[in-house]
Amino acid sequence: MIMERKWWHDKVAYQIYPKSFLDTNGDGIGDLRGIISKLDYLKELGIDIIWLSPIYKSPFVDQGYDIADYYAIAEEFGTMEEFDELLAEAKKRDMHLIMDLVINHCSDKHEWFQKALADPDGEYADYFYFRKGKNGNPPSNCRSYFGGSCWEPVPGTDKYYFHMFAKEQPDLNWENPKLLGELYNMINWWLDKGVSGFRIDAIINIGKNTTFPSYEPDGTDGLAGCWRMIDSMETVGKLLKDLKNNTFEKYNAFTVGEVFNIEENALEQFIGEDGHFSTIFDFSAHCLSDGEHGWYDAPPMEFKRWRKTITDAQLEAQKCGFKANIIENHDEPRGASRFLPKYAQTPAGTKMLGTVNLLLRGIPFIYQGQEIGMQNVIWDSIEEYDDISTKDQYRIAREAGLSDAQALEVCGRMSRDNARTPVQWSSEKNAGFSTGTPWLKVNTNYQAINVESQEKDADSVLHYYRRLVALRKSAEYKEVFTYGEFIPAYEDTDTVMAYYRADTEKRILVAANFGREAVELALDYAVKGVLLANQADLSVKKTHKTGELLKLESCEVVVLECECS
Ligand code: GLC
Ligand code: CA
Repeated sequence: MIMERKWWHDKVAYQIYPKSFLDTNGDGIGDLRGIISKLDYLKELGIDIIWLSPIYKSPFVDQGYDIADYYAIAEEFGTMEEFDELLAEAKKRDMHLIMDLVINHCSDKHEWFQKALADPDGEYADYFYFRKGKNGNPPSNCRSYFGGSCWEPVPGTDKYYFHMFAKEQPDLNWENPKLLGELYNMINWWLDKGVSGFRIDAIINIGKNTTFPSYEPDGTDGLAGCWRMIDSMETVGKLLKDLKNNTFEKYNAFTVGEVFNIEENALEQFIGEDGHFSTIFDFSAHCLSDGEHGWYDAPPMEFKRWRKTITDAQLEAQKCGFKANIIENHDEPRGASRFLPKYAQTPAGTKMLGTVNLLLRGIPFIYQGQEIGMQNVIWDSIEEYDDISTKDQYRIAREAGLSDAQALEVCGRMSRDNARTPVQWSSEKNAGFSTGTPWLKVNTNYQAINVESQEKDADSVLHYYRRLVALRKSAEYKEVFTYGEFIPAYEDTDTVMAYYRADTEKRILVAANFGREAVELALDYAVKGVLLANQADLSVKKTHKTGELLKLESCEVVVLECECS
């Protein structure tokens, strides 16, 4: 497919979760100074775009995804001057900054909501969804994503306000043009400042059925999941078009949407040439562990399903645009623990997973700590956890009859806090993250997995990630890794994830053996050279001609340049 080239097509992005990145003043909380001090580290990794999870003023009920002032930096993180410095320092290094845009809801501490509470019939109440209850009950039976009713009483009235997430995150009324004007101004204010775009939070939820119907209950609480209220793609699409026209478009901004629940065949409307966003995250592999009732009945990751899911997503996306590919983020457990079988949870396995993911067609997003192979945490009490959603899921698991130990095992596997533990910079106290007490416990494996020791080891996951990103961006191969077609390969094997990236000039084979045993693959194209390998140098294997066998050890990945035909 022929498409207009955009500035962000060949970029590699990195997500920072500021609270856990690096603390420089000993209060146990990561800060902007910490980020500034690591820009060179990110540059060396080959990063072009940095996404900052929310750094706005917030009570942190949902870790900053509850914004109290869109124009202010959270004191915990620093000042607006420091933000400007970060932006300037990033620019100096030819790196782009994108902010997290949370506009489905704000914090209950936001001035708008405070004014709405003070005058529940006034102008600001209409910035939110205030509705009368029905016979002493909430207006509908929807369940919020974090558990409990979506409706919370407005004190001193017979009204309720609506929230799809925590009760401290009231939903904004996207049917109110005045509010939309305020949001557009705010977005343009940040773009004028020089940010290059946004990661857009939970955005599909803005288009909901605001007649607020009740649904057939799907749980013992008599409630029904609020995702059912998400309206047709036309309703959402209209809001998103206006949003784009009034903001992003004018600045040639890069936008990546957090979009679940997309209707089939609607992808082009989202990421096509005229799409609502530049790109959206590919969560298809992550959704494989959606349990029917919650985390506790999440099905185990099966290799073949995982492979097919990624393959299908790639084939679909390349018909119309680019997806943003992730292994993990701040809402997901660590990929090295989740997508690799136990025997592969090693540096070799971690490199293999990274290779397969980063060379897919699309925009790679590396999440902080992924580049050193950080893993899930094991905690023996629910008290150790901070995350609001983990507490809810623990409760659900207990109510479903799981023991404390079993419910904790579920959290160990699925919790969002797995990805939120502090970045492991060194083998010093608190992994070098903070000289104070970290807001969330450091993973006890930091002596074994940390940046400092990996810097010294040329064979480490970190050094390998640098080579991997450099290959993707190299003058010679950038074109094929950016625009080359994705063609699945060796799909009939039991343990190999393999694909070609190909254009008229080049054909690259990426092949990884996720199995416990070695395998042999008959080459369909003669090999010209080895671009990257996570184990022994392939050139010694002398496997070159079509039809010859390429042997892959357990957890081995190779990136080979092949003859085009
Ligand atoms: C998104 C964020 C998540 C947050 C939620 C509500 O899913 O990634 O962290 O809890 O939106 O803002
Ligand atoms: Ca700090």
